[in-house]
Amino acid sequence: MAGRYTLTMIKPTAVKEGHAGEILKIITKDGGFRIAAMKMVVLSRQDAMKFYEVHKDKPFYNDLVEFMSSGPIVAAVLEKDNAVQAFRDFIGATNPENAAPGTIRNMFGKSIQENCVHGSDSDQNALREIKFFFSTREIYDKDGNLIDL
Ligand code: RTP
Ligand code: MG
Repeated sequence: MAGRYTLTMIKPTAVKEGHAGEILKIITKDGGFRIAAMKMVVLSRQDAMKFYEVHKDKPFYNDLVEFMSSGPIVAAVLEKDNAVQAFRDFIGATNPENAAPGTIRNMFGKSIQENCVHGSDSDQNALREIKFFFSTREIYDKDGNLIDL
């Protein structure tokens, strides 16, 4: 299973502005990623602190936690060969100003913080992040069989 799955979140501003459907369409139709699991949730501050604990010493950590708990997000498990790197290439640079034309962050990102989508940065973190949001009863192959990651 290693390498076939990544975790994305559509971040609060993009959901509030009504872009979730369009972003999911681009991810699946243009990017060729398959949705293996999906849910909309509001993260508590505690949830966001835990999800982003790898960044706890960064200067942007507190702002990021506030932002990510400010409204609903859509979390999804995406499947594709080499999913982690393929998705990071697909969404573009962290700062939308540096994201290549045609990437999701270029199209829907508003700032380095409000950059509309998250993508896991390694297979190990993808697994941790997938387990943060989804139980073993919520992740499916294309036929509806449970996937045990
Ligand atoms: P992500 O984790 O969301 O996929 O983005 P990333 O790997 O490209 O960026 P990362 O360094 O992991 O940062 C996580 C999120 O923190 C916010 N951020 N703000 N104000 C700042 O300088 C700053 N730097 C990062 C962004 O929302 C970024 O996606
Ligand atoms: Mg990251």
